[in-house]
Amino acid sequence: MKRIGICSDHTGVAYKSRLIGYLLDKGYEVVNFGADSTESCDYPDYAHPLAAAVESGEVDAGIALCGTGNGMALTLNHHRGIRAGLAWNTTVARLVREHNNANVLVIPARFVSYRMAVMMVRAWLTAEFAGGRHLRRLDKILLP
Ligand code: RB5
Repeated sequence: MKRIGICSDHTGVAYKSRLIGYLLDKGYEVVNFGADSTESCDYPDYAHPLAAAVESGEVDAGIALCGTGNGMALTLNHHRGIRAGLAWNTTVARLVREHNNANVLVIPARFVSYRMAVMMVRAWLTAEFAGGRHLRRLDKILLP
């Protein structure tokens, strides 16, 4: 994964800005889908464009932040090509890739420190999908 899309609502703007710096520093290309203000806004307005970019291949994967993470996860997972996984520590962030092959990592910005957020991003980006029984389970998620 080289090109990462990222979005947030107003609650995740500060972490998003810092994560963009972190990702650029690590050599990733980053596409910012907003929001870019701390003024109250609606997470679906940012989640849908990020999801579309992941589905189209414009970006290889995505990171989304909102207060609890649930608004972003709920919205993103309406897209058939998206597996958005909420993480709150580094083990969950690693497993959401290894077991669930999440192509979007969702971060609950109001409930984790920035330090935890960046460690989760690193854990998720460096993990690999384990396949096998986990692929069988993923195949059972989508309804016809
Ligand atoms: C915003 O107040 C908050 O509802 C939002 O960031 C998110 O937590 C929703 O799921």
